Amino acid sequence: MDRKLDKEYIGVFDSGVGGLSVLKQLIVDFPNESFLYLGDTARLPYGAKSKDTIKKYVLKNIDYLNKHYKLKAIVVACNSASSVISELDLPVETVGVINAGLIAAERASESKKIALWATRATVSSQAYEKEALKVNDSIEISSTACPTLVSLVEEGVEDHPLFPHAFEFYFQKSSFQKDVDTLILGCTHFPFFKKQLVQFFKTKGLNVKLVDASSEISKQVEKSISKGRNLQPEHIVLVTDEAPHFKKFISAKMPKNSTFNIKKVDI
Ligand code: DGL
Repeated sequence: MDRKLDKEYIGVFDSGVGGLSVLKQLIVDFPNESFLYLGDTARLPYGAKSKDTIKKYVLKNIDYLNKHYKLKAIVVACNSASSVISELDLPVETVGVINAGLIAAERASESKKIALWATRATVSSQAYEKEALKVNDSIEISSTACPTLVSLVEEGVEDHPLFPHAFEFYFQKSSFQKDVDTLILGCTHFPFFKKQLVQFFKTKGLNVKLVDASSEISKQVEKSISKGRNLQPEHIVLVTDEAPHFKKFISAKMPKNSTFNIKKVDI
């Protein structure tokens, strides 16, 4: 594929459909930008991989996008990948989702006792705890790895009958203290079951605010790009393996007036 020099894109990257929860907000906030989404479906799940392996994937993918497309910046719309980007020398401006998720949680929480549900990789990186020290050192984070929730989302069944069971399992593991008032959905797959999770906490009689990076990410992207005046934005979705559920997610979740060209690529 030749490097396309005619259009400039904002890249958005995740292991699978999760980053579409971030892309959705970006398309709304930047209606004149063209987006290039990469779902690394051949290597999903990232959350179960070691730090070194995730670093290798991130470098390879960003390098590919940067070689083949003209990019303004790349939003690493994957917490597991975002947890390693500060340790990498990347050829293009990147914006991760961890700081944005934490800012949203800090704003929402009164008790500053915050729970985090994320992948194993994100939890073991302690990236949220490290970021919390910079944002507000009175924040206390209790984190739980919830890997099964990623595969339930990738199954693409919106009201998956296993959701309540999986929520209960991870809730028990989380040992939710009484004064935890905010839960960070620290994996970009998780906002897709937010409605069901709100319902779950309601049945528990708990008033827990659910936050994710999407409300804050646009402010961070805005600082990293010069805005386009492209009146006909063109969105491309690349996947590294067959992913029929992507089409379904895109038509169900993306803004109705936006169109996407989906392609499989070998990276
Ligand atoms: N969506 C990704 C995240 O935010 C990871 C899912 C996975 O590949 O394990 O961490």
